[in-house]
Amino acid sequence: MIQVARRSLLSIEHLQAPEILALLKLARRMNPLKPRPLLRGKRVILLFYEPSTRTRASFEVAAKSLGAITTLIQASGSSIEKGESLLDTGYTLRAIGADAIVIRHPCAGAPHLLASHLDVPVINAGDGMHEHPSQALLDAYTILRYKKTFKGLQVAIIGDIYHSRVARSAIHLLSKFGVKIILCGPPELLPDVATTLATGVRVTRHLEEAVRGTDVIMLLRVQKERLAGLKIKLSDYIARYQMTPARLKLAKRDAIVMHPGPIIRGLELSGDVADSPQSKILEEVQNGVPTRMAILARAVGKAR
Ligand code: NCD
Repeated sequence: MIQVARRSLLSIEHLQAPEILALLKLARRMNPLKPRPLLRGKRVILLFYEPSTRTRASFEVAAKSLGAITTLIQASGSSIEKGESLLDTGYTLRAIGADAIVIRHPCAGAPHLLASHLDVPVINAGDGMHEHPSQALLDAYTILRYKKTFKGLQVAIIGDIYHSRVARSAIHLLSKFGVKIILCGPPELLPDVATTLATGVRVTRHLEEAVRGTDVIMLLRVQKERLAGLKIKLSDYIARYQMTPARLKLAKRDAIVMHPGPIIRGLELSGDVADSPQSKILEEVQNGVPTRMAILARAVGKAR
């Protein structure tokens, strides 16, 4: 692997706890309202092979807040549509003078492939069902705003865990700090129990068990088509797993509700829960900007 890959952010799994804490500390020093020219004149390319609202917009705002120039490339309307390979697209972007590439791709490992062939830091903005490291970092940042320390915390992750890169990165991050994690959803959407038990994570199909006494409820997006494909009735999912005010009451009084978005009101959570003071969903979006400023500053700028 090329040396510069060290400054790439490809996964949470391969980061050490102190590196995570350093990134979070750097994020706390970033203020999008007080721009710092740490990346002045640098070119940050946003290469998105999948749809995105929050992640793309906040990487762009983060890069611009640090003085960088950004360019967005999406699959449709680019040579990707004409069949150009990922590596050839990467070489092209390097030739244009990319100083960093933020990539979202439907295939697990795509950011690693790019990082191992290009002398440019690569930031994983979500790769298939694998990881979404910037989301895990902004979630950790958000949790620490309310809980001060990871020590003794319990986090319930509810929804389609099996297909979720958000869950995978969150589990890697939180388990590095000894957080108690309970995964909850219909069995078809839970990961292989043997693998999860190996990491000391608990799994349950009973929502009440997951939520009772918890500090953090992390909800995940559930796709209707996926439920249909698995022959899970939408009404059954809603009846068993939707976060409602009554279910939220089972958690600690100061529990927070999180969701990476996009949220579907009436499916993963009721509108009341989405708008309740315990919901920190929009704050997560907001925290995405300083967190991604820190990630970009570590990758390209002088900040460490
Ligand atoms: C997630 C993603 O794309 O992985 N969204 C996000 O980045 N905030 C979650 C999802 O789409 O389910």
